[in-house]
Amino acid sequence: MRILVIGTGAREHALCRALSLDPAVSALHCAPGNAGTSEVATAHSVDATDGAAVAALAAEVAADLVVIGPEAPLVAGVADVVRATGVPVFGPSRAAAELEGSKAFAKEVMAEAGVPTARSYVCTTAEQVDAALDAFGPPYVVKDDGLAAGKGVVVTGDTAEARAHAAACERVVVEEYLDGPEVSLFAVTDGETVVPLQPAQDFKRAHDGDLGPNTGGMGAYSPLPWADPKLVDEVLMTVLQPTVDEMRRRGTPFSGLLFAGLALTSRGVRVVEFNARFGDPETQVVLARLQTPLAGLLQAAATGQLADFPPLRWHDGAAVTVVLAAAGYPAAPRKGDPVDGLEEVAAQEGPDAYVLHAGTARNQDGSVVSAGGRVLSVTAGGSDLTEARTRAYRAVERIDLPGSHHRTDIAAQAAADEREEGTARR
Ligand code: AMP
Ligand code: GLY
Repeated sequence: MRILVIGTGAREHALCRALSLDPAVSALHCAPGNAGTSEVATAHSVDATDGAAVAALAAEVAADLVVIGPEAPLVAGVADVVRATGVPVFGPSRAAAELEGSKAFAKEVMAEAGVPTARSYVCTTAEQVDAALDAFGPPYVVKDDGLAAGKGVVVTGDTAEARAHAAACERVVVEEYLDGPEVSLFAVTDGETVVPLQPAQDFKRAHDGDLGPNTGGMGAYSPLPWADPKLVDEVLMTVLQPTVDEMRRRGTPFSGLLFAGLALTSRGVRVVEFNARFGDPETQVVLARLQTPLAGLLQAAATGQLADFPPLRWHDGAAVTVVLAAAGYPAAPRKGDPVDGLEEVAAQEGPDAYVLHAGTARNQDGSVVSAGGRVLSVTAGGSDLTEARTRAYRAVERIDLPGSHHRTDIAAQAAADEREEGTARR
């Protein structure tokens, strides 16, 4: 199988890495990619949101499957353009990607499908916003309706801040505050059959102890030792399958990766948001544990054959990923700093801990420099979360990026819970 992956983040590096390990893959291409993807996939430059350009590249490399990583090309309809040329695509159509592209649309679909989510109002005027803020009371949750690269949501106790965010957006969704831990659950779907992956947890705030501004995600781990083992089945029945069924009923079937961001509230599971693609950094840990070869799974989804796909297999143990962010991230990330120690990680850590590149580029001389806010993530596996964490942080310490920062508490609480449970069982 010849595969073209579109995108440039650590998610795409994780996808390329997993695909490169699949014996069914005979050729792997990535565009635009980064300094990491180019180690496992042939690099091409392309404007990822230009459907015609992506379709032309797919034809040039004779791709049997195009995998679209990020939301921007999906919402721009790149999958539709490529599909129209007869090449299977893993990723939803423009119409189906609206589940991520418009929060108001997602709310409408959830209401139709009976999917549990926060109560909400869609507002376009200051009067509507004030009425909605009053109706729910603090803490206020105000969301930009459209794509905002992880910066569209403000959660605050301050009325003025909530109003100011709403005023800066054309259309917002004001919704009730959801308490309780968050879980990211991915499902692969062909528009009919839904295959859930294993749940993960993301760390969205920039600093330890969940302090600081929201980010794209500073780390993740899987599995979740504290979660109810029935959680995945429950979310499949109450969230994922009804949503996929509703999208099909509307004549805009959703195929690709449906990502449910969930809050486990005291009143039950609620959807915080849908994304139409693999999440970053959750993908790094979920794919680290997936034993089933990835290419066949994505192809089955892209060609409507998931019903016949064998049950997924998973590695035992756990995976942890820690993001190394540039100086100034998320407000104003600095670019162009040298990244050192990558060879040392590869040489010292073995296959259980590895670097996945995000915002990196390669100089003429082959050296790697930072080129984005989240520069790279270190992913490690282990027999349990404690071992995976230890390996991940040991590898992080080997990397030198001036001014960089990372969280030191990724999976710390879950690893402690896991150890406690182990002690209790003994
Ligand atoms: P989103 O972009 O919708 O995932 O929102 C980003 C983050 O904002 C989420 O991961 C939550 O931490 C927080 N958030 C979003 N919606 C709510 C809500 N209704 N209640 C509490 N926190 C929320
Ligand atoms: N980690 C959350 C996301 O990818 O949106």
